[in-house]
Amino acid sequence: VELTLLHEKLSEAWALALAGVTVTERLRQRLADPGLASELARMQREARETHARCHGVASALGVELEDELRAKAQRTRDKAADMLLTWLKPGTDDLAAWTFLVMAEAAEVAAWRVVVRLAEDAEDERFLGLATWALPIQERHLETALEGCTRLAELPADVVNA
Ligand SMILES: [Fe+2]
Repeated sequence: VELTLLHEKLSEAWALALAGVTVTERLRQRLADPGLASELARMQREARETHARCHGVASALGVELEDELRAKAQRTRDKAADMLLTWLKPGTDDLAAWTFLVMAEAAEVAAWRVVVRLAEDAEDERFLGLATWALPIQERHLETALEGCTRLAELPADVVNA
Protein backbone atom coordinates (compact mmCIF):
# COMPACT_ATOMS: atom_id res chain seq x y z
CA VAL A 1 0.00 0.00 0.00
CA GLU A 2 1.04 3.54 -0.75
CA LEU A 3 1.12 5.88 2.25
CA THR A 4 0.23 9.53 1.64
CA LEU A 5 2.20 12.26 3.37
CA LEU A 6 -0.78 12.69 5.71
CA HIS A 7 -0.60 8.99 6.63
CA GLU A 8 3.14 9.22 7.25
CA LYS A 9 2.80 12.28 9.44
CA LEU A 10 0.00 10.69 11.42
CA SER A 11 2.22 7.66 12.03
CA GLU A 12 4.95 9.99 13.33
CA ALA A 13 2.54 11.69 15.73
CA TRP A 14 1.33 8.22 16.77
CA ALA A 15 4.94 7.09 17.34
CA LEU A 16 5.57 10.12 19.55
CA ALA A 17 2.48 9.28 21.63
CA LEU A 18 3.85 5.76 22.14
CA ALA A 19 7.26 7.20 23.02
CA GLY A 20 5.51 9.61 25.40
CA VAL A 21 4.18 6.69 27.44
CA THR A 22 7.75 5.40 27.89
CA VAL A 23 9.40 8.77 28.55
CA THR A 24 6.89 9.75 31.24
CA GLU A 25 7.30 6.33 32.87
CA ARG A 26 11.09 6.56 32.99
CA LEU A 27 10.97 10.09 34.42
CA ARG A 28 8.37 9.09 37.01
CA GLN A 29 10.67 6.30 38.19
CA ARG A 30 13.53 8.68 38.68
CA LEU A 31 11.94 11.85 40.11
CA ALA A 32 10.78 12.03 43.73
CA ASP A 33 8.82 15.29 43.48
CA PRO A 34 5.07 14.56 43.92
CA GLY A 35 3.97 17.59 41.87
CA LEU A 36 6.01 16.51 38.88
CA ALA A 37 4.92 12.90 39.37
CA SER A 38 1.25 13.82 39.06
CA GLU A 39 1.94 15.93 35.96
CA LEU A 40 3.80 12.98 34.45
CA ALA A 41 0.93 10.64 35.31
CA ARG A 42 -1.53 12.95 33.55
CA MET A 43 0.71 13.27 30.50
CA GLN A 44 1.04 9.52 30.38
CA ARG A 45 -2.74 9.00 30.53
CA GLU A 46 -3.17 11.46 27.69
CA ALA A 47 -0.39 9.78 25.69
CA ARG A 48 -2.25 6.46 26.02
CA GLU A 49 -5.50 8.14 24.99
CA THR A 50 -3.74 9.67 21.96
CA HIS A 51 -2.39 6.25 21.03
CA ALA A 52 -5.88 4.75 21.30
CA ARG A 53 -7.38 7.48 19.11
CA CYS A 54 -4.61 7.13 16.50
CA HIS A 55 -5.32 3.42 16.45
CA GLY A 56 -9.02 4.12 16.03
CA VAL A 57 -8.46 6.44 13.07
CA ALA A 58 -5.99 4.01 11.48
CA SER A 59 -8.32 1.04 11.86
CA ALA A 60 -11.03 2.94 9.97
CA LEU A 61 -8.67 2.96 6.95
CA GLY A 62 -8.85 -0.80 6.44
CA VAL A 63 -6.62 -3.63 7.64
CA GLU A 64 -3.79 -3.17 5.14
CA LEU A 65 -3.30 0.53 5.77
CA GLU A 66 -3.81 0.11 9.51
CA ASP A 67 -1.04 -2.52 9.66
CA GLU A 68 1.27 -0.31 7.63
CA LEU A 69 0.65 2.76 9.79
CA ARG A 70 1.02 0.84 13.03
CA ALA A 71 4.25 -0.84 11.89
CA LYS A 72 5.67 2.51 10.87
CA ALA A 73 4.64 4.09 14.18
CA GLN A 74 6.29 1.25 16.09
CA ARG A 75 9.55 1.54 14.12
CA THR A 76 9.69 5.27 14.81
CA ARG A 77 8.81 4.66 18.48
CA ASP A 78 11.74 2.19 18.69
CA LYS A 79 14.08 4.86 17.33
CA ALA A 80 12.85 7.31 19.96
CA ALA A 81 13.31 4.66 22.68
CA ASP A 82 16.94 4.18 21.56
CA MET A 83 17.47 7.93 21.75
CA LEU A 84 16.01 7.96 25.27
CA LEU A 85 18.36 5.20 26.42
CA THR A 86 21.34 7.10 25.03
CA TRP A 87 20.12 10.31 26.62
CA LEU A 88 19.61 8.73 30.05
CA LYS A 89 23.03 7.13 30.17
CA PRO A 90 24.56 6.97 33.68
CA GLY A 91 25.61 10.40 34.90
CA THR A 92 22.71 12.29 33.30
CA ASP A 93 21.22 14.51 35.99
CA ASP A 94 17.50 14.97 36.47
CA LEU A 95 17.28 18.34 34.76
CA ALA A 96 19.05 16.94 31.71
CA ALA A 97 16.77 13.89 31.79
CA TRP A 98 13.74 16.19 31.97
CA THR A 99 14.98 18.06 28.92
CA PHE A 100 14.27 14.93 26.88
CA LEU A 101 10.60 15.38 27.79
CA VAL A 102 10.73 18.99 26.57
CA MET A 103 12.14 17.83 23.24
CA ALA A 104 9.60 15.01 22.96
CA GLU A 105 6.66 17.31 23.71
CA ALA A 106 7.93 19.94 21.25
CA ALA A 107 8.16 17.19 18.62
CA GLU A 108 4.54 16.21 19.36
CA VAL A 109 3.35 19.79 18.93
CA ALA A 110 5.24 19.99 15.63
CA ALA A 111 3.86 16.67 14.39
CA TRP A 112 0.24 17.53 15.20
CA ARG A 113 0.54 20.97 13.62
CA VAL A 114 1.63 19.28 10.41
CA VAL A 115 -1.22 16.76 10.60
CA VAL A 116 -3.76 19.57 11.17
CA ARG A 117 -2.49 21.40 8.09
CA LEU A 118 -2.32 18.34 5.83
CA ALA A 119 -5.73 17.12 6.99
CA GLU A 120 -7.21 20.54 6.20
CA ASP A 121 -5.69 20.40 2.72
CA ALA A 122 -6.95 16.86 2.18
CA GLU A 123 -10.34 17.77 3.68
CA ASP A 124 -10.08 14.63 5.77
CA GLU A 125 -12.55 15.06 8.62
CA ARG A 126 -11.40 12.06 10.58
CA PHE A 127 -7.73 13.04 10.63
CA LEU A 128 -8.62 16.66 11.23
CA GLY A 129 -10.86 15.75 14.17
CA LEU A 130 -8.08 13.73 15.77
CA ALA A 131 -5.42 16.37 15.16
CA THR A 132 -7.48 19.29 16.43
CA TRP A 133 -8.21 17.25 19.56
CA ALA A 134 -4.52 16.32 20.04
CA LEU A 135 -2.80 19.63 19.28
CA PRO A 136 -4.00 21.70 22.29
CA ILE A 137 -3.23 18.78 24.61
CA GLN A 138 0.33 18.57 23.30
CA GLU A 139 0.72 22.35 23.55
CA ARG A 140 -0.26 22.01 27.21
CA HIS A 141 2.22 19.13 27.62
CA LEU A 142 5.00 21.29 26.21
CA GLU A 143 4.07 24.12 28.60
CA THR A 144 4.03 21.67 31.53
CA ALA A 145 7.40 20.25 30.48
CA LEU A 146 8.91 23.75 30.30
CA GLU A 147 7.47 24.67 33.70
CA GLY A 148 8.97 21.44 35.05
CA CYS A 149 12.45 22.74 34.19
CA THR A 150 11.88 25.71 36.49
CA ARG A 151 10.41 23.46 39.17
CA LEU A 152 13.42 21.12 39.04
CA ALA A 153 15.83 24.03 39.15
CA GLU A 154 14.11 25.24 42.35
CA LEU A 155 14.08 21.88 44.14
CA PRO A 156 16.67 21.14 46.79
CA ALA A 157 19.34 18.79 45.50
CA ASP A 158 18.36 15.96 47.88
CA VAL A 159 14.86 15.86 46.39
CA VAL A 160 16.09 16.05 42.81
CA ASN A 161 18.58 13.23 43.33
CA ALA A 162 16.42 11.02 45.58
FE1 LIG B 1 2.66 14.76 25.02
